[in-house]
Amino acid sequence: MTSHRPPPGGPSVASQAVTRAFGPGRVNLIGEHTDYNEGLCLPFAIAAGVTVAVRDGPDNAIEAHARDLGEEDVFALREPQPADGWRAFVRGVVAELQRAGHRLRGGTLSIRGDVPRGRGLSSSAALEVGLALALLAHSGVPEPDRRDLARLCSRVENEWVGAQTGLLDQLAALFASEGHAVRLDMRTLAIEPVPLRLERWRLATVDSGVEHSHAESGYNRRREECRAACAALGISSLRDADPVAAAALPAPLDRRVRHVLTENDRVDRSVAALRAGDLPELGRLLDASHASLRDDYEVSVPEVERTVQRVKDLGAAGARMVGGGFGGAILALFGPGRPLPADAVEVRPSAPGRVLAA
Ligand code: GLA
Repeated sequence: MTSHRPPPGGPSVASQAVTRAFGPGRVNLIGEHTDYNEGLCLPFAIAAGVTVAVRDGPDNAIEAHARDLGEEDVFALREPQPADGWRAFVRGVVAELQRAGHRLRGGTLSIRGDVPRGRGLSSSAALEVGLALALLAHSGVPEPDRRDLARLCSRVENEWVGAQTGLLDQLAALFASEGHAVRLDMRTLAIEPVPLRLERWRLATVDSGVEHSHAESGYNRRREECRAACAALGISSLRDADPVAAAALPAPLDRRVRHVLTENDRVDRSVAALRAGDLPELGRLLDASHASLRDDYEVSVPEVERTVQRVKDLGAAGARMVGGGFGGAILALFGPGRPLPADAVEVRPSAPGRVLAA
């Protein structure tokens, strides 16, 4: 926890103490655009993430340094005001933690990360979770219930950043389990770790080269379409949609609902495939998920299509876009002995967000 030694005769150990916490990025194996429809998702955390170090600083202020960007922000602890970009996350987490009744201490934050931004690997949730865990630990506040913390981080994204995202990324970052994917039921918030035994198979992400922003992409529009479909069907969530009634909706709402229903089904078929060790079936389900996201949900873009096609041509057993879409990385599954493309990054199911030991 302590990163520097106090100089002889210098300030006390307490004032030099550094608290560090880590929020991981995530890959959603399958179950895309289902979270805000009370559906099913199957994410896992990756080793890349955001580390936040906090040390004592100004009493009633937060001084934050985004080391990778070479930028900083200073704001009043008790009344953070809205801001743009990465500052919105920091101010939002500080404000929402206090709004939830956690008494925070001021301090100096140093933020570093290695999850590429705008790539569908949830650098945002990694940042929120790293910030929240670091600020709570620095302030001596016991960690709250992790589901509540996930909701709090998601409010930051909705209300401070302006992206109407669901809970998938935050739950993944807080409930991941090493060596497992986690089946999330977004209606009950039941969380079930599912062993991700790849044996000699490998999962890798490949960047499409297109960055996205949920606050500005078509993401919020898809959420509106889902609400419109619910209103037309007289239900409160697409989890309950009747496929026959949905098929009679005007386009594109019929296709949007079909994606959500078939994707929920693919999550459970993926869980079954993993439990049976049937990785070729998992590959087929990834392909089917991608086709549905492209054709029914319409969140792919030409660069993502080209990237999926490229890895399929190289022999991937399955490949699909990950995250909200409109750019970002793709996820591909490679069978034993298949070489990964030169620009692929292998991903393995890693540990959840945590306060780092000294
Ligand atoms: C983004 C959002 C999530 C989820 C996915 C799509 O990552 O942050 O809440 O909706 O898109 O599955």
